[in-house]
Amino acid sequence: MIDSEAAIEVRGLRKSYGEFEALRGIDISVRRGEVLGLLGPNGAGKTTTVEILEGYRTRSAGEVWVLGYDPGSRSRALRERIGIVLQSGAIYGHVSPREALEHWASLYPRPRSVEEVLALAGLQDCADVRVRKLSGGQLRRLDFALALVGDPELIFLDEPTTGFDPEARRGAWQTVRNLRALGKTILLTTHYLDEAQELADRVAIIKNGSILAIGPPRDLGAGASNYRVAYRDRSGKMVEHRTEEPTTLLHELTGEALARGESLRELHVARPSLEDVYLELTADAGEPPPAEGRER
Ligand SMILES: Nc1ncnc2c1ncn2[C@@H]1O[C@H](COP(=O)(O)OP(=O)(O)OP(=O)(O)O)[C@@H](O)[C@H]1O
Ligand SMILES: [Mg+2]
Repeated sequence: MIDSEAAIEVRGLRKSYGEFEALRGIDISVRRGEVLGLLGPNGAGKTTTVEILEGYRTRSAGEVWVLGYDPGSRSRALRERIGIVLQSGAIYGHVSPREALEHWASLYPRPRSVEEVLALAGLQDCADVRVRKLSGGQLRRLDFALALVGDPELIFLDEPTTGFDPEARRGAWQTVRNLRALGKTILLTTHYLDEAQELADRVAIIKNGSILAIGPPRDLGAGASNYRVAYRDRSGKMVEHRTEEPTTLLHELTGEALARGESLRELHVARPSLEDVYLELTADAGEPPPAEGRER
């Protein structure tokens, strides 16, 4: 059954480019008001997925519903309710950001004010400069602004902060948080783990056209295999163990230490971070195993 209350519902989505299978059966459900992060390496299938949801690419198989519409039908009513930041935006060089936004706003039934959007995207200082004179980061902000000006309820952001300097990234993050606070639904793709961790209610890790894991950033860590147990030994050296059974390992380590009349200094157990999970899931088969088991 398709959940018509969801903002996005994807079942068994497949996409082939000729012989090549870019998406191999993807299932995603995004609640209204949720921020979903699609995280994966180059070529994982993020842009393909997002552009099928936007109605920019056709699918080979599967069911897709966006705000209750099939995006394949390219309905105008749907287009008016979604905002899009493409991975590579394209805009005429001879207009200014303000002019581009005014034009774009005129295409929507209930646009936001252009001034407000210029501020939201941090473009006040270059609002009247010709687009061809903008820096890469400023152009990206303009892409962002164009996605917001129609006041959409669902926003697709394909690598929205690539090319931003650290301050601009923080600014964009704040914009995403503001949009979330307004109740907007957001699907964003990123290579940046910290961005996914900061912004997303749930993260889907995608590789080779399949979703490997999906869940809140904190919980994804909990499902991974390797907990880290570490302490400082008598000689002052940090010793680290990786284990799937921290309870048993701790029992053994502390039992042995007590029997020797010692304590394990700085003992701590760390759950795998989102980064650990990501690296574990996206590591290529045939890569060397983690340091401990490797022969030198
Ligand atoms: N129009 C196309 N024709 C043929 N192959 C394509 C086309 N678009 C994408 N692909 C291939 O499909 C796979 C997925 O590409 P996609 O752009 O969806 O990845 P991505 O996760 O967005 O990567 P990136 O992080 O580099 O943006 C890649 O192997 C890519 O080469
Ligand atoms: Mg991409």
